[in-house]
Amino acid sequence: MAVKLIVGTQWGDEGKAKVIDYLCGSQDIVVRYQGGANAGHTVKVDGKKYVFHLVPSGILYENVICVLGGGMVIDPSKLFEELDALEAQGIDAKSRIRIADNAHLLLPYHKIIDAKREELATNKIGTTKRGIGVCYADKVNRWGIRLGELQSQSFFKDRLPLILKSKNEILHKVYDQEPIDIKQTTNDLHELGAKLKPHMVNTPYYLNAELNSGKNVLLEGAQGTMLDLDYGTYPYVTSSNPTTGGSLAGSGISFQHLEEVIGITKAYTTRVGEGPFPTEDLGEDGKKLAEKGHEFGSTTGRPRRCGWFDVEVIRHAARLNGLTSLALTKLDVLDEFDTIKVGVGYELNGQRLDYFPSYDVEDIKIIYEEFPGWNEPIHECRKIKELPKNARKFIDSLEKFCRIPIDWISVGPGRKDTIKVK
Ligand code: GDP
Ligand code: IMO
Ligand code: MG
Repeated sequence: MAVKLIVGTQWGDEGKAKVIDYLCGSQDIVVRYQGGANAGHTVKVDGKKYVFHLVPSGILYENVICVLGGGMVIDPSKLFEELDALEAQGIDAKSRIRIADNAHLLLPYHKIIDAKREELATNKIGTTKRGIGVCYADKVNRWGIRLGELQSQSFFKDRLPLILKSKNEILHKVYDQEPIDIKQTTNDLHELGAKLKPHMVNTPYYLNAELNSGKNVLLEGAQGTMLDLDYGTYPYVTSSNPTTGGSLAGSGISFQHLEEVIGITKAYTTRVGEGPFPTEDLGEDGKKLAEKGHEFGSTTGRPRRCGWFDVEVIRHAARLNGLTSLALTKLDVLDEFDTIKVGVGYELNGQRLDYFPSYDVEDIKIIYEEFPGWNEPIHECRKIKELPKNARKFIDSLEKFCRIPIDWISVGPGRKDTIKVK
């Protein structure tokens, strides 16, 4: 009965799915605990690439049960699209999917409003337009729909008509959009309820029983610490808590089960969408990182902004999440740099700052240290001692700056391209 948590330490896309897939060999259950189809989690096995948006990244292991947790917002059309694609490739996915009955239902009107808001806003967030913020706002307003409610007759009779009527007013009066066909939507949701019924679980009950019977559970974070609604670069954040606190609320597992919190960290930094990014490199190095790292969003295809490793970001993530170790990914992307920079500290208004501030992030001045590169490919390395001396020095320095052990190093996108340090 052990729970491992995988959390992104930067602005998402750190390579969480690659590490989750690597670790899943010894897991029984993988639980996604927040977010929705804004996530794009890429796994490469035997040269084949899979991108998951809602389905947990453990699905490729035939003995692993995959749970969509109560903290998620679930777009059923996307979920079944993903599951059908897996089944078409001969992967028996549907029988291993469990869905929390308190997860929230994301419907087309959430996506329409998200896109419209972005279009009309003067201060754009650069969302994925997957309806995420709008669906979470409904949840917080107590105007949302839980997936379990699709099994309830009184929900269809009493609550659904009120919700749809009010949405139609907003769609029409605020956004000048076509109204929802209430009768059609009601029928569709009846059908959806029947389709989802075999997958529904009460997660606190189910997961705690599984843990008590000795099963191993891995919690899969989406997004990253700096996109956290409360501790990220607000308002340029997502609408959930990818951090450790969110993992407990979003899975229904008690903190007592949590044994390890593994922070996933790129050897440099990327960000998609708007918002401050202190170590962003807008010059040739940034372009080279994007090119060597194939830095395009897995969900929207947008180019990712690139920059250097930022120690204060990782320390912020370590404090918030209680990180017990780090997995350093995409080290191979740095293979052809003569000099590698690391942001080792901040100055704000002429003062040294040893934490990530909650405001005025765009005014931060970065203090950099430079490290010599190794100028040789490391993709084939499988042991720490096989890495070039300069790569090892770089890793040692990051460990010292961040004060957390780096227990895994990823040198390529494939499952096997991984060095286990301990
Ligand atoms: P996630 O959202 O954190 O799961 O990350 P994404 O899947 O969105 O983005 C990570 C990208 O980097 C994917 O295309 C992965 O296949 C790729 N990747 C992961 N680890 C490595 C690595 O160590 N080296 C290289 N070159 N690519 C990697
Ligand atoms: P994974 O799980 C990177 C970003 C969006 C935008 C902001 C808000 O693959 O790491 P939203 O659609 O959530 O309302 O958008 O958050 N964002 C991500 N960036 N990786 C992700 O997920 C992201 N999910 C959302 O680009 O800036
Ligand atoms: Mg991603």
